[in-house]
Amino acid sequence: FLKNVVNGIEIYSMKIDSKVTSRFARNVITSRAVNRGNVHKEVFFDVELPKTAFITNFSMTIDGVTYPGYIKEKEAAKQEYEKAVSKGQTAGLVKASGRKTEKFTVSVNIAAASKVTFELTYEELLKRQFGKYEMFIKVKPKQLVKDFEIDISIFEPQGITELEAEGTFITNDLQNVIKKTFSDKKGHISFKPTLDQQRTCANCSQSLLDGDFTVKYDVKRTTPDNLQIVNGYFVHFFAPTNLPQLPKNIIFVIDISGSMSGREIEQTREALLKILDDIRDDDFFNFILFGSDVHTWKEKLIKATPENLDEARKFVRGIDTEGMTNLYGGMMKGIEILNAAHEEKFVPKRSASIIIMLTDGQPNVGISNTEDIRTHVKKAIEGKYPLYNLGFGYGVDYGFLEKMALENKGLARRIYPDSDSALQLQGFYDEVSNPMLMDVELHYPENEISGLTKNSFKHFYDGSEIVVAGRFADINQNSLTVDVKGEGANDVLSFTTQQDAEQTAKAFQEQEYIFGDYIERLWAYLTIEQLLEKRTAATGEEKENLTAEVLDLSLKYKFVTPLTSMVVTKPEDYDNQAGIADKTTEGFPISSITMYYFFLKPLPPAPSFALVPPRFCLGSTYFKAF
Ligand SMILES: *[C@@H]1O[C@H](CO)[C@@H](O)[C@H](O)[C@H]1NC(C)=O
Ligand SMILES: *[C@@H]1O[C@H](CO)[C@@H](O)[C@H](O)[C@H]1NC(C)=O
Repeated sequence: FLKNVVNGIEIYSMKIDSKVTSRFARNVITSRAVNRGNVHKEVFFDVELPKTAFITNFSMTIDGVTYPGYIKEKEAAKQEYEKAVSKGQTAGLVKASGRKTEKFTVSVNIAAASKVTFELTYEELLKRQFGKYEMFIKVKPKQLVKDFEIDISIFEPQGITELEAEGTFITNDLQNVIKKTFSDKKGHISFKPTLDQQRTCANCSQSLLDGDFTVKYDVKRTTPDNLQIVNGYFVHFFAPTNLPQLPKNIIFVIDISGSMSGREIEQTREALLKILDDIRDDDFFNFILFGSDVHTWKEKLIKATPENLDEARKFVRGIDTEGMTNLYGGMMKGIEILNAAHEEKFVPKRSASIIIMLTDGQPNVGISNTEDIRTHVKKAIEGKYPLYNLGFGYGVDYGFLEKMALENKGLARRIYPDSDSALQLQGFYDEVSNPMLMDVELHYPENEISGLTKNSFKHFYDGSEIVVAGRFADINQNSLTVDVKGEGANDVLSFTTQQDAEQTAKAFQEQEYIFGDYIERLWAYLTIEQLLEKRTAATGEEKENLTAEVLDLSLKYKFVTPLTSMVVTKPEDYDNQAGIADKTTEGFPISSITMYYFFLKPLPPAPSFALVPPRFCLGSTYFKAF
C-alpha cells in the first residue's frame, strides 16, 4: 500500500513543461508508466485542458517505438474510426468536460513489463484579465509519482513586474517546494515534490496532489502598447494604463420566468445587490424583467445616486418569478430605453453603454423564433453597444445566445448552476465594469499587411488587453507603423507606434526562450479563434468559406480545432489500437474534446480474476487562461 504502484501500474514520471513567450504558451505533458504486473493492463492518460487551448501534438511511445499523432480533417478521421467499428471490433468513446476545461483521455493496453510514454502538446494565448495573465494547471496524478515536476518558463520582452504561483492543494509543508524566480524579462517556476512530500500523511499512499495550480503574472508597461516583429509576422499588444474611467450606462435584462424560481432567482438577486454596491455614482442603470410580460424598474435610465441605489436595492429584493419567457420583449425594451437615453442626450456623450441579459430558458412568448429575434435585436442595436448574454443553467439555447451576442459586438457566457452562481454573475460584471476606451481602432498600412486579425473593438476594459496580429505582404519587410485611436472619458486618445524587427530581435537576445515561429503560431491561433467565432453566426456560402479557411489553417499549423481530429494509429503487430482526439462544439457542456478510442481487434483476454480491469489514471492537468 505504501508503494507507488497501483494494481500493477507504476507511473514513474510525470512532467508538465510550459514555455511562455509573449503570452503565447506551449505546454508539453509527458507521462511515463510501466506495467509491473505479469499480465496485460490498460493504462489511462487523462488530461484536462483549457477550452481556449488547441492540442497540437500527441504521441505514444510503447517499448521504445513512437506512434505519432496526425492531424486530419474531422470527417476523414471519423471515417477511419467508423470503418474500424463496422468490422465488428470493439469501440470506446470518452467525452467529458469541466467549466473551463476539456478532457482528453486515451488508454492503451500494454504487456507485462512494458513501458508507455504519453506526450501531449497544446498551445494557447494567455489572456489578460483584472491586470494579470493567468495560467491554470489542474494537477491530479491519482497516485504517487516518483518523478513529478511542473516547470514553467516565461519570457516577456517588456519585462515581468510580478509573478505568483499557488496551488489549492498546497500545504504549509509544500509551500516551499514551489520555487519561483523572476528578474527583468524571465520568470521561472518549478514544483517538484518528492514521493514523501506527495503523501497525505507519513505512511499514506494517497497523493496530496489534487487541485489547481495557478500562475499569474503581469508585464511592465512604459508605453500603452508593444509591437513585436519576427519572420514576416507581427503581434501588437495594446493595454493603456492610468486612463480616466468612462462613465457607463448599463441595462440589466433579467429573465424572471417560472423556471428561475428558487435558488436561481435568489442567486440573481444576491448578485445584483453586490453589483449595485459597485456601481459608480456617475453611471446610469436600469432593470428590465421579463416573464410572460415585461416589467421595467424605471421608464428611463437612472443615475446611480445613493438614493436611487437604495431604491434599486428595494426593487431587487422584491424581484420574483412569474410566467413564461418573453425574451424578445425584454430585450427590445432594454434597447429602446438605451436608445432613448442617447437620443435625448441625458447620458454623457462620452459614456459606454452596455446591455447584460440573463436567461435560463428559451423564448416562448412574443416572438419566439430565435432567428427573428436576432434580426430585430441587431437592427435595434445597430452596433452602438455590446450585448452580453449570460446563459444560466442547462435549459438555454446557448447557440442562439452566442450568435446574438457575437453579432452585437459582445459575447456569451455560461453561468453554471452551483453554489457559486452569484459569484459567477458578479465576476462577469466585474470584467466589463470598468470601460476605459470606446471604439478602439488599430490601423496598419493596408498595402503592407495581409491576414490582419480583428482590429476594431467596441470597448477596452481596464485590466484587459487588445491583441492584433498580422502577416507582412512582403516577407522581407521589417518595420511597421501603427496608428491607434480610441474615445476616452475626456478626449480622443490617438498615437502612433513604430517598430522594426531588429528592435524585437534585441529584446529577444535570450534565444533559448523563443520557439522561433511563436508570432506566426500566435497569429494562426488568433486567426482560427476569430474565424470560428465568425463562423458561429454565419450561414450559407459565407459559412462554407469560413469553414474552408479554418480547416486549411488548422491542418497547416496542426491545431486540433472543431474541424480537425488527431489520429493515433498503432500498426497491426501491436493489438491494433487507434485513437482520435477531437474538439467538438456540439451539446452541453459547451465544447469538449472528444476522445474516440477504439481497438481494431478485441483486447487480449483479461485474466479471469480481473474481468473488468480497474482504471488507472495517469493524471489530469489543465491550464486556464483569462
Ligand atoms: C510530435 O511529438 C513527437 C514525439 O515527441 C515528435 O517526434 C514530433 O516531431 C512532434 N511533431 C511536431 C509537429 O512537433
Ligand atoms: C510508518 O510505518 C513504519 C513501518 O510500518 C512504522 O515503524 C512507523 O512508526 C510508521 N510511522 C507513522 C508516522 O505511522
